[in-house]
Amino acid sequence: MSYIQKNLFFFSLRKRGLAMAVNPMCDHNRLFIDGIDAVELAKRYGTPLYVYSEDEMIAKMREYTSAVRAYAGDGQVVYASKAYLNMRMARLVAEEGLWMDVASGGELHIALAGGFPAENVVFHGNNKTVEELDMAVRAGVGRIVVDSLDEILMLEAVAKARKRVQAVVLRVTPGIDPHTHEYLTTGEIDSKFGIALHEDRGIQAAYQISLCPHLDFKGIHCHIGSQIFEVDPFVMAADIMMEFISALWRTTGIAVEELNLGGGLGVSYTDEEEIPVSDYIRVMSQEVQAKASEFGLRVPRMFVEPGRSIVAQAGVTLYTVGMVKELPGGELVVSVDGGMSDNPRPMLYGAKYQALLCDGQKGRALCRVRIVGKHCEEGDTLIKEICLPEPRTGDILAVLVTGAYHYSMSSNYNGALRPAVVHVRDGRAYLVVERQTLADLVRGQRATLDDESDGYAKAAGGQS
Ligand code: LLP
Repeated sequence: MSYIQKNLFFFSLRKRGLAMAVNPMCDHNRLFIDGIDAVELAKRYGTPLYVYSEDEMIAKMREYTSAVRAYAGDGQVVYASKAYLNMRMARLVAEEGLWMDVASGGELHIALAGGFPAENVVFHGNNKTVEELDMAVRAGVGRIVVDSLDEILMLEAVAKARKRVQAVVLRVTPGIDPHTHEYLTTGEIDSKFGIALHEDRGIQAAYQISLCPHLDFKGIHCHIGSQIFEVDPFVMAADIMMEFISALWRTTGIAVEELNLGGGLGVSYTDEEEIPVSDYIRVMSQEVQAKASEFGLRVPRMFVEPGRSIVAQAGVTLYTVGMVKELPGGELVVSVDGGMSDNPRPMLYGAKYQALLCDGQKGRALCRVRIVGKHCEEGDTLIKEICLPEPRTGDILAVLVTGAYHYSMSSNYNGALRPAVVHVRDGRAYLVVERQTLADLVRGQRATLDDESDGYAKAAGGQS
């Protein structure tokens, strides 16, 4: 990489708001995350380490809120917590006045434990259990997004038993291909999520909800997919949803107060061209308004559910470089102390990343390297090819744009300990999630088959 390219690279990092300052004027670069030296963080908290800039997440949440205020009046931003959630994040989202999408009883528990107000929770999932529905109704969640005919009946029974009337939204699939990875596509009619709009199925489902005395039908929801870089699929979704709202009104007299258009805005990990948040919100709300006036309907309250675009660029993962190997062809394979257990995205979606060495590269030649993890899988590669100052054992390597779907998708594969999470705010670092310990790996396990391990007998009177 030439000096100019190097400069451009660092410039593009800053332009994308990664909240990092790298001194491009010398070859002894240091990485700062909101003013804090990444190497110091790695020393203090160990690696692998997820580091988040709170200022960056707050800025994104505010960008969404002001775009929604500007273009969608009484609209509401709902943070999709599957992208990144812990008690601290729940508190931050609450402070910013966003609502929160949870996709399981587990996420609901974390949100409530962090002090998130239940009435601002939107509860999702294609297979919520009776226990999860009961937990949500009891907690008083703001909306439950019903996903199937079975669930309508199940939820009615749960709400009835709790003597509550639960506000619900119906998830439908508008049948759109958003041009993203097939695993990230959720709005086509063969999706496992929601009810297809085909053959009046959506109308029948909404009608069925309207017949349930313990369900209060508020509106409809769709989520066409994730990591989308074109506005057209979003506009098409808004269009189809408005057509559905109109058809529902004409055939049943059921009015839709709320239209939740899901999340999905794409984020640049390397050099993808992003759609600005305000353009994304503007085109969708203009479409909703235009269609409402065309059909003579009231403009529904618009909800959006961004996850990735709020947190992805606020996060980096710090690793320590371990073994460095030169392969027969001359390729350098650089191993770090994490891998697919803290970032499964390269293996799942072929995701690409940028990385940089945080310190210690003074006077070193640039070379092409492969960054691999420490897991027992040949495919455990974080970055297939990247140009870096020759990495050496003990260096700290930062993989960028790891704020979304990393911590939340991390695992204990190969007995890996889930990394600690640090938030940086106003130039100070705070530990918000402790690193797991070896004791966590065996918590709840038993090595013996004694009575204490709940020896379950085959039948009444069976072996005891
Ligand atoms: N709303 C619903 C109902 C969703 O299912 C999702 C994401 C979102 C909102 C937020 O979408 P976002 O703004 O983050 O694109 N694990 C994958 C991403 C899966 C997305 C699942 N649903 C990844 O690592 O790329």
